[in-house]
Amino acid sequence: MTPTDPPSRKKRIFSGMQPSGEAHLGNYLGALRRWVEMQDEHDCIWCIVDQHAITAGGDPKELPGHVLDLAVSYLSVGLDPEKSIIFVQSDVPEHTELAWLFNAVTPIGDLERMTQFKDKAQRFESIPAGILNYPILQAADILLYKADGVPVGEDQKQHLELTRDVARKFNAAYGETFPETEPLIEKGVGRILGLDGEAKMSKSLGNTVPVLAGPDEVWERVRTAVTDPQRIRKTDPGRPEVCNVYSLHHFFADGDVLEDIATQCRGATRGCVDCKRILSDNITERFTPFRERAAELVEKPERVREILDDGAVRARAIAGATITEVRDRMGLDWRASIG
Ligand code: TRP
Repeated sequence: MTPTDPPSRKKRIFSGMQPSGEAHLGNYLGALRRWVEMQDEHDCIWCIVDQHAITAGGDPKELPGHVLDLAVSYLSVGLDPEKSIIFVQSDVPEHTELAWLFNAVTPIGDLERMTQFKDKAQRFESIPAGILNYPILQAADILLYKADGVPVGEDQKQHLELTRDVARKFNAAYGETFPETEPLIEKGVGRILGLDGEAKMSKSLGNTVPVLAGPDEVWERVRTAVTDPQRIRKTDPGRPEVCNVYSLHHFFADGDVLEDIATQCRGATRGCVDCKRILSDNITERFTPFRERAAELVEKPERVREILDDGAVRARAIAGATITEVRDRMGLDWRASIG
């Protein structure tokens, strides 16, 4: 770099998770683990999307606790308010304002095509408009901060495509304003199946491990995990390539250890229970510092509130500037006519 080079702008990263309480193994392996790593290289913004959560109904008495629990999980796994902005979506009303403005450039047909909309809609006799408009709010979350990249799982790819479409349509109608945000989908990880072998690891399906679980709870969950269905007795040779416990080992064990585990499985020299023990111990080891940090935070909820309050102030500084620009472009700045 020569002295005249401008300092390179760090890439801005945005992502969010719905508050349904404490985060779990699937959230950690699929998202949080990466978010923590990204904080050193990028300008990161991590959101708790409570406005999205209300589209699924749910008990209003439980939501505040779920938001706090997810905040504790974020902070415990290593999201760091010194490095990143961490905040709650409803503290920054510009999200819903921008979502409304994006209604002007989003064809209903694009929303109706979303596979998640089609899945969710089946659960309702009368479909709430929020389920249809969900991806517009998501586009607003991302574009409010003009994010360059969004780390998400494969399941969010379509919502990210819609975000790019919204940006393109807005720019075409009102002038160049938004970037075309890149989805950052981790390669080689694939889907993280539930411990019961279901397609999704989720708290409501009870097929996962909470990130703040202690050794006994981790073992209790991992013990029940589904393995190669053809391996019935310990003496049957197993097939690591079809075993979900084996695919979870990849996140915790390195190459040599993985190779040993596979060899012992194929040769029937190690049974599934022992194999799950290794996984359970590795998960516990990873989660122990999280639990220690969480214990401190739970003692000091006012510290969590301070962090989220400060995050909201910092988020609003960026969000406010974007909204001013958008209002201006859309002709909502009527005072301009007075001069
Ligand atoms: N729809 C996302 C999910 O269910 C959550 C979400 C809302 C999100 N807004 C976002 C993710 C913005 C990334 C960026 O996982």
